[in-house]
Amino acid sequence: MGAYLKVYEGWRNDPEAFWLNAAEGIDWYEKPDRAFQADEGVYGRWFADGICNTCYNAVDRHVERGRGNQIAIAYDSPITGAKKTISYSELKAEVVALAAVLQERGVVKGDRVVIYMPMVPEAAIAMLACARLGAVHSVVFGGFAAAELATRIDDCAPKCVISASCGIEPGRVVAYKPLLDGAIDLASSKPASTIILQRPQQSCDLIAGRDFDYATETAKHLSAGTEVACEELAATDPLYILYTSGTTGQPKGVVRDNGGHMVVLQWSMKAIYDVEPGEVFWTASDVGWVVGHSYIVYGPLLNGNTTILFEGKPVGTPDASTFWRVIEEHKVASFFTAPTAFRAVKREDPDGTLARNHDLSSLRQIYLAGERADPDTIHWLERVSQKPVYDHWWQTESGWPIAGNPVGIEALPVKYGSPTVAMPGYDIRVVSDEGVELPRGELGNVVIKLPLPPGCLPTLWNAEERFENVYLEEFPGYYQTSDAGIMDKDGYLFIMARTDDIINVAGHRLSTGGMEEVIAGHPDVAECAVIGIADKLKGQLPAGFLILNSGVQRPVAEIQSEVIKLVREKIGPVAAFKIAVPVARLPKTRSGKILRSTMQKMINGQDFKMPATIDDPAIIEEIKVSWNKFTA
Ligand code: COA
Ligand code: AMP
Repeated sequence: MGAYLKVYEGWRNDPEAFWLNAAEGIDWYEKPDRAFQADEGVYGRWFADGICNTCYNAVDRHVERGRGNQIAIAYDSPITGAKKTISYSELKAEVVALAAVLQERGVVKGDRVVIYMPMVPEAAIAMLACARLGAVHSVVFGGFAAAELATRIDDCAPKCVISASCGIEPGRVVAYKPLLDGAIDLASSKPASTIILQRPQQSCDLIAGRDFDYATETAKHLSAGTEVACEELAATDPLYILYTSGTTGQPKGVVRDNGGHMVVLQWSMKAIYDVEPGEVFWTASDVGWVVGHSYIVYGPLLNGNTTILFEGKPVGTPDASTFWRVIEEHKVASFFTAPTAFRAVKREDPDGTLARNHDLSSLRQIYLAGERADPDTIHWLERVSQKPVYDHWWQTESGWPIAGNPVGIEALPVKYGSPTVAMPGYDIRVVSDEGVELPRGELGNVVIKLPLPPGCLPTLWNAEERFENVYLEEFPGYYQTSDAGIMDKDGYLFIMARTDDIINVAGHRLSTGGMEEVIAGHPDVAECAVIGIADKLKGQLPAGFLILNSGVQRPVAEIQSEVIKLVREKIGPVAAFKIAVPVARLPKTRSGKILRSTMQKMINGQDFKMPATIDDPAIIEEIKVSWNKFTA
């Protein structure tokens, strides 16, 4: 038996022993006696009798054990030209100072704090300061608009918001403060205070009594040497809430606990990403996404790595050599990003000339996730980087890879198009719509046998019933991933598509239902359908098909651009919504359900069967004509 199979079977035969052993990698105030407690939570809870603190494990223990001078965070910002390193000792001081500021603002264990920040070290410091106090952070990606931020504020009711004056996108400064003020105006739950990091590119006005200056407030505590102890927390206490797209405009607040999350992230750093403490680990993503939470901030810091906080783009900051430059300069050992990022590099530098100008000898492998890694991109990347490239599959809900190539245990042969095999903790099955397990090689619903392993969501914030409805109801005894896929005879998984209305745009997960809700709010739109169309760079792009109200006299082009503007204003630029096609009718079933998946397959040039329940098959042809006219 190979090493991976041995470990996987070891877990299967005795999950208690497997996870208690993994828990040895964490420092506990009170060690858990049991790994899994079946009678707690919706489907059981992990390490329920353990007492711990995530900030202590990610920061303090490294300082206590001699890593104080090691770089914890290397901030590299080609978009601003700034670079800065923060040692573990400095990180501890910064985190303690911000925790003291939060305490002054009345934040205590269990309170929520929203973090709405660009990719600056203070974003990670803010997360850790909350973790230190046992306050529950909720990071909101900077590319979301005020209304999306307001929805999240209303759902988690934060006592405080930590934000910055601005973010920087290529060619423009994004003023965050007006977005934040707008969100607070819109929200019915008002945070008592905000802490604002003023950035030199564009500062902002502060509202007296509500807004506090990050630098001034933390400086007071840094010079006074204020101490803030790490709060002793139950392993099951929430560390954070991260909102992710569901099938409606109301995002789902994925809850992450402290104990299980730490145990698996620490375990994964060696087993999956093959890095030892002290090495440099780089994930090019954003702290607003789960990938950023797990593998920019918590995973590498828990493991005592140096993590790179990169504020830039794969291309244009200043060019397509940026990734290679950062790898060389910081001696990155293991690198992780989304396939779309490398598709962007490939488009600008198809021959990989830029990579050859850099010394990549520190780098052992590259990981891809966030969307399907197309074999073309993997082949290209292997050739250009001369490194192994590993696809792996996971979700905001899981918090760490469900399927991957466990390089630190055993590098398994790569099958192109497959994120490889189930990680220990995950019993993955492929089932029919009726819930019957399918033979290997057949396409079906990818589900995970309960219980989910440590680190995965125990519930949704304030929405336990929704958690059960969305994830656990359709296939009793299993967690529904909402991905369709195939498992081959060797246990390799192939993830093919989502089974719901979620699309993946440049590695960003977006709800077409949410966009439809916004578009339907336009006074001239009677009905609409948003689908994901294939895109060479971003994987998918949203396309809206609109039926206008009868009797609309205004130019259609005017309405199209208003609809595009509306989505940008309400959801944000990250939605990348730029296609609005007027149509006369939408294809529906006889019961009135819009046949989005049939439209999507037809437009993407995939085979499709005309649904037996379609009301009028001629509409599919009409959509095709409208689409061809639009794209001509
Ligand atoms: N704050 C404000 N606006 C933001 C933003 C942020 N943090 N992040 C993105 N945006 C804006 C962009 O400026 C762009 O605006 P535009 O329509 O005015 O051009 C829009 O949102 C769409 O952004 P994006 O999808 O990132 O497209 P892009 O054209 O700027 O860049 C890629 C394309 C492929 C280079 C880029 O998507 C990328 O690097 N993706 C990596 C994906 C990733 O990290 N995924 C995380 C999961 S692993
Ligand atoms: P998110 O929650 O934003 O991480 O998005 C999760 C979704 O992205 C999954 O349910 C998949 O649909 C898709 N996804 C993530 N990684 C992969 C991958 N390696 N291969 C195929 N799809 C992926």
